[in-house]
Amino acid sequence: EMAEKGGYDHFMIKEINEQSTAIKNTLNEKDKVKEIVDEVKGTINRVVFVACGTSYHASLTGKYLIESLVGIPTEVLLASEFKYSAKALNDKTLVIFISQSGETADTLKALDVANETSKTLAIVNVRGSSATRRADYVIQTQAGPEIGVAATKTYVSQLVAIYLFSALLGEDHELLKRLEKVPDYIEEVLQKRDEIKEISKKYKRDKDAFFIGRGFSYPIALEGALKLKEISYIHAEGYAAGELKHGPIALIDRNIPVVVVIPPGQDHKKIMSNLQEVKARGADVLGIGAVGDEDLISESDDTFLINCDVDDIIAPLVYIVPLQLLSYHVSVIRELDPDKPKNLAKCVTVE
Ligand code: G6P
Repeated sequence: EMAEKGGYDHFMIKEINEQSTAIKNTLNEKDKVKEIVDEVKGTINRVVFVACGTSYHASLTGKYLIESLVGIPTEVLLASEFKYSAKALNDKTLVIFISQSGETADTLKALDVANETSKTLAIVNVRGSSATRRADYVIQTQAGPEIGVAATKTYVSQLVAIYLFSALLGEDHELLKRLEKVPDYIEEVLQKRDEIKEISKKYKRDKDAFFIGRGFSYPIALEGALKLKEISYIHAEGYAAGELKHGPIALIDRNIPVVVVIPPGQDHKKIMSNLQEVKARGADVLGIGAVGDEDLISESDDTFLINCDVDDIIAPLVYIVPLQLLSYHVSVIRELDPDKPKNLAKCVTVE
């Protein structure tokens, strides 16, 4: 097993470090994605994403992308809740299934239901898995085998597949070009990984944490919170920054860690005012934002800063990396095994 870990302490950190390669390899699927786009273009008036867990968070990013780039109404359903919405499907609906394993029981069940009425597309990492055999169209993510239970490189690869699909459908050539730079941005983040290791020490004894974001950074916050709870057993909640004031703000007081995901872009100012709201109540703020964001640096207790060319639109592909590293280091510092969290399985084959 040591040899398989390639010198790393755990599969999870090895797989976090493989993410730029996983992205490059998945970007090579572009021509195949284009073939699918050419077939469905003009035949659909609605998109529904279906997934579980981390794949559900990739789907939420997909909703914002398709709606903003293509203008087709898009919704996201948890696979286990899918059947309750199935009556409204028709042959002009494209149902997109996101699953790293291609074997999740809830997702397969939903795929069978969707196949009765609609076109289906599966975005899957494991070759030859059940989902790839049952869907009308398949996009194969190229993350390679993922052993760590908490999804990392398969997640960013799913996102790349969704970005390719959305940008090709919306004919956004500039975005397609910008995606080529994502592997380099990730490498830059990984070079600064010790900064996150240092910050993670603060979380050793915490019982709760919040992650907030808005727009494209909202699913990043949800995924950051899921990673932390999965492998460090800290109760973590991801929240839409604007929704904090409708409840959770009551829980914010001194020393509660709040991770604020705040890339440059149209919502920066609003997220900053949400940051100030939690700061005013004594929260311990970790700002994940852009190099040179002086407001963020002065308002936060800690910051992790990312290349300022990474704006809100491509942030989901890059800003998640420091959050994966945070959950990894918190798990290790708490003397847990990040590769084998209790009660969780890599692939859930029961409904
Ligand atoms: C399990 C795994 C998660 C994963 C989810 C969905 O809960 O522990 O990491 O996100 O299943 O899996 P899928 O293979 O369908 O993406």
